[in-house]
Amino acid sequence: MITLFPEFFRGPLETGILARAREEGRVRVELVRLREFGEGRHRVVDDYPFGGGAGMVMKPGPVVAAIEHVRARSPGCRVVLLTPQGRLFRHEVARELAAAGRLALVCGRYEGFDERIRGFCDDEVSVGDYVLMGGEAAAWVVIEAAARFVPGVLGDVTSPEHESLSDGLLEYPQYTRPREFRGLRVPDVLLSGDHGRIAAWRRRQAVIRTARRRPDLLERARLSPEERDLARRAREGEELG
Ligand code: 6GU
Repeated sequence: MITLFPEFFRGPLETGILARAREEGRVRVELVRLREFGEGRHRVVDDYPFGGGAGMVMKPGPVVAAIEHVRARSPGCRVVLLTPQGRLFRHEVARELAAAGRLALVCGRYEGFDERIRGFCDDEVSVGDYVLMGGEAAAWVVIEAAARFVPGVLGDVTSPEHESLSDGLLEYPQYTRPREFRGLRVPDVLLSGDHGRIAAWRRRQAVIRTARRRPDLLERARLSPEERDLARRAREGEELG
């Protein structure tokens, strides 16, 4: 992480699955203090935009110096700039970045990066169509999603490829005890013990749910002709069990 705010990551690094993965040596996160690469006695990292306009711009010198520091320490690492102008961070991008093994995530503050910084990075990623106050929250999203693809991080039984979005669909509805809550019953099929029927029901529910909530995802999903038809009917508002 190349950041002006290393303390941003303190809580998250010490919490939950990531903390365990770090203790087990499966994931390592190093914080590089961008301020240390700042210019002059005041360690300046930003400046006014040429041509005028509101806000400050990240200077190229400090950011590129930090990137080169990381490249020297970690040869072959993939340098990713976090910016709303990057390619959209999706499940497949998380998988791809995890496979890269070593990442340098460049977090900016202020209104943007000097355009010349881009050429010193390998990739640009955005976590969605909204503007954050800085790249740190986005970088953490990348870490969480990518770490799930690191072998062993989720434990032995869970695989990120057996989950929601891996097959391009939203997750099926989940239930736990009690069987009845405020008059709301768990679907009988889930109590049947018939694993074939349960798997079929879940697949069907995932298709219906995705069609209704995120029809955009269906373009990439691998569906059988029958499932395509089911999705079409769900989108048209047909009542489906
Ligand atoms: Cl990566 N950075 C910032 N600052 N805002 C964002 C973003 C990234 N992705 C979406 N909004």
